[in-house]
Amino acid sequence: MRTRLTELLGCRHPIVQTGMGYVAGAGLVAATSAAGGFGIVASATMPLDQLRLTLRKIRARTDAPFGVNVRTDAPDAEERIDLLVREKVRLASFALAPSRDLIRRCADGGVLTMPSVGARRHAEKVADWGVDAVLVQGGEGGGHTGPVPTTLLLPQVVDAVGIPVVAAGGFFDGRGLVAALAYGASGIAMGTRFLLTSDSPVALDVKRRYLAADVTGTVVTTRVDGVPHRVLRTPFVDSLERAGRVTALTRALRNAAAFRRASGLSWPALLRAGRATRHGRDLSWAQTLMAANTPAMLHASMVDGRPSAGVMSAGQVAGLIDDLPSCAELIDRIMTEADARLTALAAVR
Ligand SMILES: Cc1cc2nc3c(=O)[nH]c(=O)nc-3n(C[C@H](O)[C@H](O)[C@H](O)COP(=O)(O)O)c2cc1C
Repeated sequence: MRTRLTELLGCRHPIVQTGMGYVAGAGLVAATSAAGGFGIVASATMPLDQLRLTLRKIRARTDAPFGVNVRTDAPDAEERIDLLVREKVRLASFALAPSRDLIRRCADGGVLTMPSVGARRHAEKVADWGVDAVLVQGGEGGGHTGPVPTTLLLPQVVDAVGIPVVAAGGFFDGRGLVAALAYGASGIAMGTRFLLTSDSPVALDVKRRYLAADVTGTVVTTRVDGVPHRVLRTPFVDSLERAGRVTALTRALRNAAAFRRASGLSWPALLRAGRATRHGRDLSWAQTLMAANTPAMLHASMVDGRPSAGVMSAGQVAGLIDDLPSCAELIDRIMTEADARLTALAAVR
């Protein structure tokens, strides 16, 4: 299958594995790209040195192209882009709109850019600024997410911009890939589906929580870090949702104190980290503190394998997934299914 996306990125299949904090490291990205998809490293949760090491590990396993997800508001964002340029990484993806300066820095260094967008006007803005592609995430997607479902957002954005559009939010199989192409997208991107592979580093206990979820098993909450965040519904998340302001502040203080002890950060450094994640939003002190220790809550589940102590970002699609294939098996399966759907559609015509 050849699309504008495979041409742009140089991958064999129009399937992107998105950058997921603490999940999309060297192992998952190398397995995806080696199988002909396009893997993206999540760099927001790793220091610069670890990113450098991660790039080397991927290169040792595959010559296939891959990308890196960069936090636009990271204090060292420019250094990270310079590293991608030096290492000839194919693509930088961004959860938040990158500045024109960052886009230019990438373009000058030969690194393609692909921000994630959750609204048509954001897609139009970044397309005007010269990005190479946009990743459109519909509301059913995992992690930070917007209110518009993929089936409405995708055609809106495809009609609004001329650059390749990658569809994300709710994809898991070959039917979804063909549907996305029918809407005018050039490929699909998946988070939750790649988290649920045997190549993902997440503990089996945590993967089992995802597999057990049904399609209503996720919730969009602003109680984690102040912005709408789709996570698995757990007793911990329910208690965050129910907590009044005083309880929320007490809990946030307790969590922050524990995180401060574990991380060795000072209180001012912790609050600076919290303020950095506010992005000019009107967050309460409790939310600022929670935002500051969101990485700790993700770490507890994704890295420490303690699902009840942390939060698990998850798309609604978790409810439709019940196995843990390798990335190669998953990608092969999706391409075989897509091929069968295309043949069936041609017969309909
Ligand atoms: C566990 C998890 C962590 C995520 N972390 C990030 C991240 O660090 N940066 C980012 O841009 N998107 C992040 N996302 C969003 C994904 O990149 C992707 O857009 C989303 O998962 C697509 O929806 P799907 O889960 O239905 O496939 C995360 C998603 C999940 C499930």
